[in-house]
Amino acid sequence: MKVSQETENKITEMLSEMTVEEKIGQMQQISYESYRPEVFERFRALGAGSFLHVLGEEADEIRAEAKKTRMQIPPIFGIDAIHGHSLCNGAVIFPSQLSAACSWNPSLVEEMGSVTAREVNADGLDWVFSPVLCLGRDTRWGRVDETFGEDPYLAGTMGEAITKGYEKDGLVAACLKHYIGYGEATGGRDSYDTEVSIRKVRETFLPPFRRAVKAGASTVMTAYGSISGIPMTLHKQLLRDILKDEIGFEGFVVTDWYNIQSLRTKQKAVESFHDGVRLAVEAGNDMSMNTFRFYDSAIEQAKAGKLSMQLIDEAVRRILRVKFSLGLFDPDKKRLPREVIGSPEHIEVNRKLTRESLVLLENDGILPLKTKPKRIAVIGPNADDIRAQYGDWTFFSHPNESPADCKPLGDYYTVLRGVKTVFSESEVVYAKGCHLMEETDDSMLAEAVTLAESADIVIAVIGDCLKQNGEGKDRANLELSGRQNELMRRLKQTGKPVITVLVNGKPLCIGEAVKNSDAVIEAFNGGDLGGLCVAELIAGKFNPSGKLPISFPRSSAQIPCYYNQYSGWHGGKYMDVEEGNLYDFGYGLSFTNFSYSNPTLSSAKAKAGDTVTVSVDITNTGNIDGYEIAELYYNDRFSSVLTPEKQLCGFTKLWIKAGETVRAEIPLAVDELSLIDAEGKTVLEPGVFDIMIGGSLASLQTAELIVE
Ligand code: BGC
Repeated sequence: MKVSQETENKITEMLSEMTVEEKIGQMQQISYESYRPEVFERFRALGAGSFLHVLGEEADEIRAEAKKTRMQIPPIFGIDAIHGHSLCNGAVIFPSQLSAACSWNPSLVEEMGSVTAREVNADGLDWVFSPVLCLGRDTRWGRVDETFGEDPYLAGTMGEAITKGYEKDGLVAACLKHYIGYGEATGGRDSYDTEVSIRKVRETFLPPFRRAVKAGASTVMTAYGSISGIPMTLHKQLLRDILKDEIGFEGFVVTDWYNIQSLRTKQKAVESFHDGVRLAVEAGNDMSMNTFRFYDSAIEQAKAGKLSMQLIDEAVRRILRVKFSLGLFDPDKKRLPREVIGSPEHIEVNRKLTRESLVLLENDGILPLKTKPKRIAVIGPNADDIRAQYGDWTFFSHPNESPADCKPLGDYYTVLRGVKTVFSESEVVYAKGCHLMEETDDSMLAEAVTLAESADIVIAVIGDCLKQNGEGKDRANLELSGRQNELMRRLKQTGKPVITVLVNGKPLCIGEAVKNSDAVIEAFNGGDLGGLCVAELIAGKFNPSGKLPISFPRSSAQIPCYYNQYSGWHGGKYMDVEEGNLYDFGYGLSFTNFSYSNPTLSSAKAKAGDTVTVSVDITNTGNIDGYEIAELYYNDRFSSVLTPEKQLCGFTKLWIKAGETVRAEIPLAVDELSLIDAEGKTVLEPGVFDIMIGGSLASLQTAELIVE
């Protein structure tokens, strides 16, 4: 977001004309879901600054109403377009952020952003509450599916890419959320306190936000929780001093749902509602989501001289900046035709991304299938459940749970439909096998086993469901729920080859299911085309290339198990669980193999501000062409504060033909090797750094870099 000096002058002029009521009206965001209709009507008539969760024509009606107000300031319409314009039935539903991150393909993620922006714009809306830049490090948390995984560098790269995609054509504003530390609440419990230092915030949680702000994000959303006991809504240091002053964020900050009201009712951080309103503005919140009494309280306090008019003017300036930058005042503002929603071009972007988002976790050689099976048994609770496949934040889950007979209007493929489509010459039989949440009786399992026995291969689709993911749906136990493990054991006992597909919102403890499988594909929440692309992968129509953006534990109690931890004295192993993760961050198989050799640095010595190029030869040693993701990590051998043993600092994705060798080159900005010192300052400490490159954490080759 950038506005000219001329626009700033225009805003100054407007601010001088606006009444206190008009200014504070701009700072109020309203949703119709949680109010009595008269509250919604009141704000519609007086011209609230923003509305959320209003779709299509309804937005146009509210817009027309705002035209009748004295200042005629257009509202900005926000929507949770989290993976596509996903609350709108008929729009393209992309893989979840977690799934998209498996692609390690920022260009495709940028395209996902721009397609979403087009569909949201065509629906008459201006603002997406996305991307989620929280890190999925405590995977008990219910919203891990919304993240780009556990790593600040990868999440920052993806966050930057999708933000560019949203904002580049000026169609919609992005909203970076949830600022900050929300994913790391104690015990993985949604919206609880995050007990971390500001040093840790700067080291781990801030970098993705910093990058996405620099990429042009127009808005930021304040998290529900607190950092070391300070409610985020009142965290002046993080909101005002760091985000706005230090990083230079010029857009506006919106609270999350009822944050201001919750300061008193839930967090008990203020005794009176008025205090919450005043302190929230002083801390740096510019717009109040839903706490609609904000409006009257802020006016009263501003008129009584208790709430600074200067801060109100600053907040309104920020909001107007975004409105001008989006062209909302322009009567000819670009609105794409509704036909772009779900258009073939958009579906094509989805297809590419979905293919690259699948991760092959295991393969004993069965994949790709060498012969066409005569009979395929598709078994499992998630084989034909599009709600589970979509995951959270679609028209199924929000604003309110949709009726049981609600069907997607777009073309969507569960795994069952995908298999029937791709293996059209095979006979495909299906049984659910077991439930995920409810009791499963023996006959359901028996039916699945009988079908498996009658088939040449079994495709087992297991995982989790909507009820096990989302806000406030944290899990203490990440074992496969219901009788899924038993189902997998019994399928394996049939002696038929078992290809397991995981349709889930987060890493689950799948060790036992893996033992009972010949191949395992992680699909996460794959959106419209998840099931089709899984079937295409099984048939060998493309070579899988995805790698995990998040680690998989062997047991729930190993969490957190993210890779970039500091080293401990005793190796960090539990005496009662096999050492290490089941699958590491950055892991994923291909139908071919890649070998790495000759890692070199363009310079053995470097200093702050330099860029060193890291190069390595990668050979496709198999007989199928494919993509390889080369991962670059570093280790600061000795540092004044603890630093991770391995930290991602770059990657590249290359297409390499069978038998061919390609030289990969990854630029490394030496400043990326900085640490946050004991005083909270960003410092590049001189010394030796190990620069490691390879296809996975388990197979890295090292070159030494001396930082002077
Ligand atoms: C969520 C946000 C979301 C907002 C508006 C909140 O409950 O935490 O991520 O953008 O609702 O729907």
